[in-house]
Amino acid sequence: MREREYFIFRPAEEADLEFISNLSAHVFSRYGRYEKIVPAWFKEPAVITEIIAQQSDALGFAMLVLERQKVFIHREAHLLAIGISVEHQKRGVGTALLEHMEDIAREYNAVEMNLWTAVDNEPALAFFHKAGFEIERFENGYYPKGQAALSMSKRLEDT
Ligand SMILES: CC(C)(COP(=O)(O)OP(=O)(O)OC[C@H]1O[C@@H](n2cnc3c(N)ncnc32)[C@H](O)[C@@H]1OP(=O)(O)O)[C@@H](O)C(=O)NCCC(=O)NCCS
Repeated sequence: MREREYFIFRPAEEADLEFISNLSAHVFSRYGRYEKIVPAWFKEPAVITEIIAQQSDALGFAMLVLERQKVFIHREAHLLAIGISVEHQKRGVGTALLEHMEDIAREYNAVEMNLWTAVDNEPALAFFHKAGFEIERFENGYYPKGQAALSMSKRLEDT
């Protein structure tokens, strides 16, 4: 059984951009120039970027945008990215951060969370599947470097 760990969540700041960019280069560069794309998302006013940390060490980040087709219908939360530093993966950090992002989405009355992930990203598919996401759609050539992607979604029940 995993030891219980305590994490800190905080909104990302400019000072976190180097961490976010380096981690994106490490974990997403096979899909495109995400070391540039992800920091550009950070600067968009609608994007919520959160850091998960332990003491002063950042362990990972996630980005969320809230969307809706019409102003009078419910919102959908779109998870743009989630990344955990390789040395901190597979000990529950990603799960804790994803749950935190779901809580934020609920605070904004989102009833659903969706995302895209690469067809070949087996750890991510297993991770999202375990968190309750279901595959919805396949899209060829989704990523800048041409890989196919799957969209996944999850209903956000009230907690
Ligand atoms: C996907 C990612 C965020 C998961 O974070 P994590 O902290 O390692 O995940 P957790 O430790 O919370 O794992 C939760 C569950 O996910 C699944 N999982 C996580 N990593 C896995 C791996 N490498 N292989 C298979 N299943 C995996 C397991 O079911 C795991 O449950 P278990 O520990 O009881 O077996 C992390 O691997 C990562 O940052 N990957 C690179 C970036 C990325 O691909 N992001 C997703 C697309 S945006």
